[in-house]
Amino acid sequence: MIKVITYGTYDMLHYGHIRLLERAKALGDYLIVGITSDDYDKSRGKINNQQSLMERIAAVRATGLADEIIIEEYEGQKIDDIRRMNVDIFTVGSDWKGRFDYLNEFCRVVYLPRTKGISSSEVRAEKRKLKIGLVGSAAFRTKFINEAKFVNGVEVTGVCASSPSNEQEVKDLFYTDDYDELLEQVDAVYIISKPEKHYEDIKKALSAGKHVLCESPVAYTRKQVSELFQYAKDKGLILMDAIKTAYSTAYARLILMVKSGKIGNVVSIDAVCTSLSDGIAIEEADLSQKWNSMCGWAPAAMLPVFQIFGTTYKEQLFYTKFQNKAENMDAFTKIDFIYPSGIATIKVAKGAKAEGELVIAGTKSYIYVPAPWWKTDYFEVRYENPADNKRFFYQLDGEGIRYEIVAFAKAIESGKVMSYVSEDISEAIVGVIEDFNARKNLIEIE
Ligand code: CTP
Repeated sequence: MIKVITYGTYDMLHYGHIRLLERAKALGDYLIVGITSDDYDKSRGKINNQQSLMERIAAVRATGLADEIIIEEYEGQKIDDIRRMNVDIFTVGSDWKGRFDYLNEFCRVVYLPRTKGISSSEVRAEKRKLKIGLVGSAAFRTKFINEAKFVNGVEVTGVCASSPSNEQEVKDLFYTDDYDELLEQVDAVYIISKPEKHYEDIKKALSAGKHVLCESPVAYTRKQVSELFQYAKDKGLILMDAIKTAYSTAYARLILMVKSGKIGNVVSIDAVCTSLSDGIAIEEADLSQKWNSMCGWAPAAMLPVFQIFGTTYKEQLFYTKFQNKAENMDAFTKIDFIYPSGIATIKVAKGAKAEGELVIAGTKSYIYVPAPWWKTDYFEVRYENPADNKRFFYQLDGEGIRYEIVAFAKAIESGKVMSYVSEDISEAIVGVIEDFNARKNLIEIE
């Protein structure tokens, strides 16, 4: 029996795929089709397949051409598959010509002529792109513009800010200082205005029927957050809290690992986020345009706390050093969250520097994430005996922003919530900021 194997993504199955599978099948007696998993595809820079892995598998199965379907999950898997399954022929389309010659050592390699005039990319491109407008002028908006280029089906088209920008990425876009004008031209907005404007900016976009991705904190009071999420639901629109760390694969995996009990019961969480260069401030040196430490850093620092311990802490205590109290600018803030079974401490600063680590202590072992933990591709599970320590690496593309945009676009398309930051967490984050602004349980240091 001659065994043939072929690999592909098979997104939005088209006749080019079917012709390839027919010819692959005709090369032998038994056809194995390897379908690339979503994660594996991301690492190849192809992102936002329109269909999930399960849908793509179902489509290939429905052709009736595959005798066996497997999932391709890692680099180097092809050699393992070929050896393990005793494959005689490896085949793919001629667009890959030469790329798999190294497999000749293990089996025959055949490149089949690619069908002209059709590809998944073209099928996807026929769909209308989601137009996103940017609202505000925080410096990191250029990162968003660049990351959106990696995501199929979306384009950043315009920006609304109080003044035009010198940054090339922003200059290439349509510019207006009139929010209504921007809203007329887009399907969705990414809001990076100053936090005290978020509520108003979100409300206006939702009223205009536009989906919203907003930097955290999404509002200034708990009441406002629940009102906004309810309003979005009533209007059938997506509202997502933009904390990019939630979309870092390493971070998401470590949270899962903690929840599975790998380090035992969690007793403490220590998260530190600081920046002296002020990556979140805008071009103007004007203090009134800057984000304070609480708004700029605390949402990311609170994310692991609320995801692991939940949002119902018994008490919270702030220790703050102000840089300019009248403007509510904190140079440094430490918050202790007291839970029935553990303590969490976050330290955030725009006017002080410390090691930006994350340490999660458990009754069996602890997780250590080196600085800068909020955009990490790596973490360690550490034990009493260092010989038992385990290291975990995951590719991180675009600091998580790329996957955040994918989740936003998919949520809009499917009408389902795809956010990795749940509503109760958005609300808890805003609640802490509300308490800070009210100086509740706050000890000021000189
Ligand atoms: N294929 C083909 N003819 C086409 C398109 C694809 O023979 N017109 C083959 C590819 O060479 C590959 C298999 O079908 O062996 C799966 O291809 P895949 O990369 O999933 O599809 P594409 O349409 O090439 O996807 P994209 O546009 O995203 O690159």
